[in-house]
Amino acid sequence: QWTTSSIVDEQVARIKAQVGDGKAICGLSGGVDSAVAAALVQRAIGDRLTCVFVDHGLLRAGERAQVERDYVAATGVNLVTVDARERFLDALAGVTDPEQKRKIIGREFIRVFEQAERDLKAEGDYSFLVQGTLYPDVVESGGGAGTANIKSHHNVGGLPDDLQFTLVEPLRALFKDEVRRVGTELGLPETIVQRQPFPGPGLGIRIIGEVTAERLDILRKADAIAREELTSAGLDRSIWQCPVVLLADVRSVGVQGDGRTYGHPVVLRPVSSEDAMTADWTRLPYDVLERISTRITNEVNEVNRVVLDVTSKPPGTIEWE
Ligand code: XMP
Repeated sequence: QWTTSSIVDEQVARIKAQVGDGKAICGLSGGVDSAVAAALVQRAIGDRLTCVFVDHGLLRAGERAQVERDYVAATGVNLVTVDARERFLDALAGVTDPEQKRKIIGREFIRVFEQAERDLKAEGDYSFLVQGTLYPDVVESGGGAGTANIKSHHNVGGLPDDLQFTLVEPLRALFKDEVRRVGTELGLPETIVQRQPFPGPGLGIRIIGEVTAERLDILRKADAIAREELTSAGLDRSIWQCPVVLLADVRSVGVQGDGRTYGHPVVLRPVSSEDAMTADWTRLPYDVLERISTRITNEVNEVNRVVLDVTSKPPGTIEWE
């Protein structure tokens, strides 16, 4: 019988068999998948797991603190934070193509881990890399038989050919709802287990156009406002996720007070979904949309328009890139 506890037992046994008495590194993204993958591996190999959190500068407001404070409090896991903000910005300079962005971010992630591994060498030989790859990631990156490559999810299609780790991917056969149940079974708190999905490449694929530090700051502010309003309206559990997308190369004329503005639009992309393979756009209440729009245009100087994405998946994907 395929129960949650049997999934846990089976995966813990597999991880023990695969890793033996070796050591593993797990990149934490702040999301559910890597948090649950790490907790599974921690259950199997204890403190021979070290988690590495890469601050790639493409994070949302408050995410670094969430990992450093909340996840460590819940699990007691060994955590190393690497500040790689400059490195990612440099690598992304001038890049506008979505697939190229994804591949660069995936590559830089791995390079940072490899550097972290070298730094950890003093404590032993970390030759395993834990990833929270889910079944839909595998399918959509063309990993399943007869499937097209729709997007290179950073943790599947973006891996370099000369990878220096053996991958441990305990969630590879699971869908998101199963991963959440596994997390609960492992004793992770609700705030982690019920977190909405956020893509590994982060805000880098929510800026349409080149990714710069200034544009990231703009998007971070707009995103934080949207999340705050959705949370205070009690909508976190009923929507799957709500990407906020900055159309960085688009400008439009507006008016504020007595003055003309020439700012950027942001797109709200609220979706409802079971597993992210398909999605419907969420009919958010008008008063919530109004509060988000008013606050973003008032509080984020560079943004003078808020637009709503009313496309289902298919034909749209959830993220814009
Ligand atoms: P799309 O845009 O393909 O997104 O409809 C489906 C779900 O996957 C998330 N997503 C990613 N997650 N690495 C991830 O870990 C990625 O590269 C990535 N790209 C998209 C997206 O937020 C949605 O939940």
